[in-house]
Amino acid sequence: MKKIRQPIIAVLGHVDHGKTTMLDRIRNTRVAEKEAGGITQHIGATEVPIDVVKQLAGPLLSLWKGEIKLPGLLFIDTPGHEAFTSLRARGGSLADLAILIVDVNEGFQPQTLESIEILRKYRTPFIVAANKIDRIKGWKITENEPFLVNIKKQDQRAQQELETKLWELIGKFYEIGFQANRFDRVQDFRKELAIIPISAKYGIGIPELLVLISGLAQKYLEEKLKIEVEGPARGTILEVREEIGFGTTIDVIVYDGTLKKDDMIVVGGKDKAIVTKIRALLKPKPLDEIRDPRYRFDQVEEVSASAGIKIAAPGLEDALAGSPVIAVRGEEELERAKGEILDQIKSVIISTDKVGVIVKADTIGSLEALSKELHEKNIPIRKADVGNISKTDVMEALSVKDEEPFYGVVIGFNVKVNEDAEEVANAKKIPLFIGNIIYKIIEDYEAWVKAEEE
Ligand code: GTP
Ligand code: NA
Ligand code: MG
Repeated sequence: MKKIRQPIIAVLGHVDHGKTTMLDRIRNTRVAEKEAGGITQHIGATEVPIDVVKQLAGPLLSLWKGEIKLPGLLFIDTPGHEAFTSLRARGGSLADLAILIVDVNEGFQPQTLESIEILRKYRTPFIVAANKIDRIKGWKITENEPFLVNIKKQDQRAQQELETKLWELIGKFYEIGFQANRFDRVQDFRKELAIIPISAKYGIGIPELLVLISGLAQKYLEEKLKIEVEGPARGTILEVREEIGFGTTIDVIVYDGTLKKDDMIVVGGKDKAIVTKIRALLKPKPLDEIRDPRYRFDQVEEVSASAGIKIAAPGLEDALAGSPVIAVRGEEELERAKGEILDQIKSVIISTDKVGVIVKADTIGSLEALSKELHEKNIPIRKADVGNISKTDVMEALSVKDEEPFYGVVIGFNVKVNEDAEEVANAKKIPLFIGNIIYKIIEDYEAWVKAEEE
């Protein structure tokens, strides 16, 4: 039987621009109403049922002619660099849609640009929330008000200031090839990026944000969201974590099918496909804090896409964040799943004897994103792997250096450098380019090449 699953919506943006506060606000609204079971917060994800959206949005929903048939929205919060991990699925995007949050007072910041690059690379449609409008001087706050109601209450000066800040944002988007506009001035949502001014802290503009995201999903993604719900599950690992009483567990977003408690699963590991049997499916209680180590889980029998769930199973120690999870029923499916997962790992974790740079990253998702970027810049890769920079990495760079000095380097995303690796790098003058913003790491490398050439 086909059903429409919840769209998976990633929330991205620069540090402290308000991603979590926005999600908190969406959750709190419901808490305030004390309606049990209204919102379920899964691991790293927040589920908002469609009746909540409808309640919050009120008459605004009529903006969309036609009915919203989605069961709800599944939001993924992406703190900092974890964006890569959580966004990956089959070399594409796990997210069906995204909300890019920009502090309207700070404008574009490095991680804003990085987020846009990821969205562009994976062709993920997104809308922009211009946050913290309440910080504008003299702004009058009415909690949870639609923006279009709230804006009318502001004096001329505050309105003008917001307008100026929005134009600055629109200008920045224009510079990088996007046509953007305030959402109520957008003519065609497929061509223009909609900007919704919000205050995550006070809930202003949240009604429009929810209406827009659900309307866009309904209008443009209905076919993509239709799934065979009874089929075996497919998902992506968000995080690999120790859980007291359960050992190593994986937090997974299931985007297809149904995962059952007794299912056999195949999971991506560092150099192998891990086959294991689920011991428990753990669902956090509604409205629990995502990263609170004390919360207690409910054990459930099954879970259908889209959902966030923690899986406890033996042998997950070597599971890789960002890699696939495929449930299998039968020998043939098992072999196919193993093959598919190995292919995916092999397309990202590579080891050659080419003359090229050494690449290290913290997860398979970030490694894939970094490698893609290098590839597009025609920078050849000798080795790409997950983990900290080791002495072996530096020695390999050294052997490359003899043949081609510009490629005798190690490029690392969100990784540490082992002590002995650091020593060798210093002694042999092997440059290490490390950071947590891809385009900056590559810029640094390119600047170094240029300086060396001169
Ligand atoms: P990271 O997860 O660390 O990347 O940050 P984030 O994007 O999740 O931001 P977070 O929600 O943690 O907010 C950062 C700070 O900004 C907090 O102190 C919030 O209270 C504040 N903040 C967020 N939204 C608003 C807003 O709309 N208005 C005001 N005045 N403050 C806000
Ligand atoms: Na923060
Ligand atoms: Mg946050």
